[in-house]
Amino acid sequence: MTKKLFIKTYGCQMNVYDSDRMTDVLAPLGYAPIETPDGADMVILNTCHIREKASEKVFSELGRLRMMKEKARDQQGRAVTIAVAGCVAQAEGAEITRRAPWVDIVVGPQTYHRLPELIAEIDPSVRKRAIDTDFPQEVKFDLLPEEHAPRGPAAFLSVQEGCDKFCAFCVVPYTRGAEYSRPAADVLAEATRLVGRGTREITLLGQNVNAYHGDDGHGSVWSLGRLIHALAEIDGLERIRYTTSHPLDMDDELIAAHGNVPQLMPYLHLPIQSGSDRVLDAMNRRHSKDVYFKVIDKLRHVRPDIAMSGDFIVGFPGESDQDFADTLALIDKVGYASAYSFKYSPRPGTPASVSDLQVPEAVKADRLEALQQLLNAQQFAFNKKTEGMRLDILVERAGGRAGQMAGRSPFMQAVNFAGSEDQIGQIIACDIIEGRQNSVTAEITSMKGVA
Ligand code: SAH
Ligand code: SF4
Ligand code: F3S
Repeated sequence: MTKKLFIKTYGCQMNVYDSDRMTDVLAPLGYAPIETPDGADMVILNTCHIREKASEKVFSELGRLRMMKEKARDQQGRAVTIAVAGCVAQAEGAEITRRAPWVDIVVGPQTYHRLPELIAEIDPSVRKRAIDTDFPQEVKFDLLPEEHAPRGPAAFLSVQEGCDKFCAFCVVPYTRGAEYSRPAADVLAEATRLVGRGTREITLLGQNVNAYHGDDGHGSVWSLGRLIHALAEIDGLERIRYTTSHPLDMDDELIAAHGNVPQLMPYLHLPIQSGSDRVLDAMNRRHSKDVYFKVIDKLRHVRPDIAMSGDFIVGFPGESDQDFADTLALIDKVGYASAYSFKYSPRPGTPASVSDLQVPEAVKADRLEALQQLLNAQQFAFNKKTEGMRLDILVERAGGRAGQMAGRSPFMQAVNFAGSEDQIGQIIACDIIEGRQNSVTAEITSMKGVA
C-alpha cells in the first residue's frame, strides 16, 4: 500500500534539492509525496537554522503537527511519523526532542540517506525515537538512489556542500560540515539523467559552489569553470546557473566561462554582505570591497549585460552609521538586478553572537528599510530597462491567472505572458512589455507576427 509523505521545506535551494532526494530515498519504501499535510503518514520538516526567525518557525509548526498526530491516533487509530531534518536538526537535535517529544526522527543533512534505517528503528507505540546527526565517513551522495520523479524544466543539482570559511555570523560551517565536492562524473551523470527527463535548465548548488574542486576520476581536480564547460556539452541542456558563490573563489576560468559558454546565463548571485572594509574584516569575509569590484569589472568585461544579485546583512556587531553608508554607496556603484537583505541575527555558537557591540534592534530595522528601498528601486529600474527587449523565456509553469504562463528570463526575472500549458519546458522568444517591481510581463514574439 502506498503511504503518504509530506515534506515541508525551509531555507535555501540546497534544502529544496535535499527534500527531493529524501522523496527518492523513501520511494522504494512505498512513500508517495503529497502537497498538504492532511492525511499524511509521514511528515518531514526540512529546516533552516540561518536566522532566529527561521528556526523558531520549526517549533511553531511542530506544535501544529502534534495536534494532527494526536487527532489521527485518537480518531482514526492511525500513526503519523514526524521527522525533523535539515540544519535545525543538526544544530539542535537534543533541544528538539526535549521541546517536542512527539518527534519520532531527527536527521541531519549529512545522513538522510539513512532514513530507511531510522524508520525501521522507531516504534511510535512505545515512543522510541531515532536520532542521527553524524558527519559520517561514507558519502551520502554515493548511497542515494537515482532520481525517481522528474524535476521539471528548471532543476537544482547539488555539486558541493559544506563550508570552511567560518564567517563570524554564520551557522553553515557547523550545520553542514566541511567542504565536500562531488566527483565530476557523478555530476555529469545526474545532469544527463535530468535532461533525459525534460529538464532544460540546471542550477548547480553549493554553499560555496565556486569552491568546487571535484575529482575527475583521473587523478586531477576540476574547478567549477571546467565542470560548466563539460555540462555545456550535454545535448538538450540549454541553461546553466550556479549559486551561491563567494567572491574569493571567482577564479579566472569561471569568469571566462561567462564569456565563452553560451548556456551559462547572464545572472550571478555574488553576496558581499557589507560595503565597509572594517565590517568585512570583522565578519571574517577575508576580502576587501575592492576585490569584489574587481571581480565584477572582469565579469562585465566578458559579459557586459550580466545581471548582479547579492546578499546584505545590516546591523552586524559594531556596524556604525558610516559603515552602513558605505554599504549604500557600494550598492549604488554596483547596481543590482535583485538582492536579499537581512537584519543581523545572533546565532548560537558563532563568534559574532558574543560580541559586546550588538546593534539595537530599532537601528537594524531603520537600516534594513533604507537598504531595501534602494535595492527595490534598483530592481524596478532593472526590470524597466528590459522593456522592449526580446528575451528567451524558459516556460516553467501555469501562471496565477487563466491563460497566463510563468517563466524566467536569462536574467532570472519572473516573466508572465499569455500562453498555454503545452509550452511548459520550451524556450520561447518574448518581447518584454512592462517591467514591474518583482516581475515583467511579455508577449510571445511570433504571436505579434514579428518572426
Ligand atoms: N554561502 C553564502 C551564504 C549562505 S547563507 C555566502 O557566503 O554568501 C545566505 C545568506 O544569509 C548570507 O549571504 C547572509 O546574507 C545571510 N545570513 C547568514 N547568517 C546570517 C545571520 N546570522 N544573520 C543575518 N543574516 C545571515
Ligand atoms: Fe556562511 Fe560565510 Fe560559509 Fe557563506 S561563506 S556559508 S556566509 S560561513
Ligand atoms: Fe538554512 Fe541550512 Fe540552507 S541553515 S540557508 S538550510 S544551509
